[in-house]
Amino acid sequence: MPTQWPELFARRSSRGGDELTAILSLAAATDVITFSGGFPAPETFPVDVLHQLTSELLASDAAMALQYSPTEGLPAARAAIAGLVEQRQGGTVDPEDVLVTSGGIEALQLLARTFLDPGDRVLVETPTYLGAIMAFAGYEAVVDGVAVDDDGIRVDELEDALRRGPRPKLLYVIPDHQNPSGLSLSADRRAALVEVCRRHGVLVVEDVAYRDLGFDGTAPPSLWSLGPDVVVQIGTFSKIFVPGVRLGWAVGPASVVDAMTAAKQNSDQCAGALGQMLMTSFVTQGHLDRNLVVARALYESRATTMLAALAEHLPDGYSWTRPRGGFFVWLTGPDDVDARSLVAPAARLGVAYVPGTPFHPGGGGHNTFRLAFSRATEDDITEGVRRLGTLLRPGAARS
Ligand SMILES: Cc1ncc(COP(=O)(O)O)c(C=O)c1O
Repeated sequence: MPTQWPELFARRSSRGGDELTAILSLAAATDVITFSGGFPAPETFPVDVLHQLTSELLASDAAMALQYSPTEGLPAARAAIAGLVEQRQGGTVDPEDVLVTSGGIEALQLLARTFLDPGDRVLVETPTYLGAIMAFAGYEAVVDGVAVDDDGIRVDELEDALRRGPRPKLLYVIPDHQNPSGLSLSADRRAALVEVCRRHGVLVVEDVAYRDLGFDGTAPPSLWSLGPDVVVQIGTFSKIFVPGVRLGWAVGPASVVDAMTAAKQNSDQCAGALGQMLMTSFVTQGHLDRNLVVARALYESRATTMLAALAEHLPDGYSWTRPRGGFFVWLTGPDDVDARSLVAPAARLGVAYVPGTPFHPGGGGHNTFRLAFSRATEDDITEGVRRLGTLLRPGAARS
């Protein structure tokens, strides 16, 4: 009898992954209007600038651009990221305290690998980014959710959670235009959160994936700026530049960044040099700032279109968030609605979304839906929401 390889898989391999793979494959389908993946709009991709920068780099610096690079990142890329963080968040960043990663997910993986032994506790917002739950659960951590409201994570609930169980090692939060809810943490709560975590000796992992995509271009103080001693900030260029280069960063206490760098040695060893150099030129030549102005306006009009379509087409009993940035609207239906069981009928109608349950670390949220407005055109948004409305109408045929 041939060996059944899955019987030999490590325990951690059974922890998640399928859901994200399914999202990515649905998002790639061409015959459905997809609100599923958190994909940037291809219209924001700076194709002409990248043409020009790539040929310049290959003409002048091919030996560096096509070579392996230092694990912590190319010096110019670290300096560009330090400059960006300083420009947008204040404070001073020593480029030595910046790690260049192969995307935001890798930064989370490196943190998990650095901090988490099996059974360690991590606190997250409920709901939160699925990739983070998977990164923590993949290292066999116990992931506990903390409730949120319209102002983001509830600091009183956080204190309760801290009193209740063993001391968590990490608190993971997405303060700006959160994935999946689209909501942001209020300025008041930011300071309180940092103070509580400092008092309890918990490292805050601040994910700023959507911070620069506020529709009005502003954001409250970052958690890192309020507590650089207790916050490691992770960011990604996937949403503001292009995901095709897989670049992100971590900025935080030197001891944490050093340990993450050591973990990266045992992972992919370095982020690609070509992408780092393209990103560096893109940032330092001012293209990023110009591109962001266009991207914010595009996402704002897509969000506005989605909100108008929801108001027009959804039946009574549904409510949704009204994001002021980022990529997502979070929809909540009546209690007897099961978002998971509607995925297949929705696909038959030619529309895709992500059901909310996988964003809840302990289960729950069966009647919630994540809708990304970032990638679909306005016409498709209107038509896709109309189709959803047809499906969600009480008594609709769903076979
Ligand atoms: C909150 C959040 N963090 C991190 C990431 C991952 O970023 P990357 O694609 O650069 O790995 C995403 C992507 O969807 C995200 O929504």
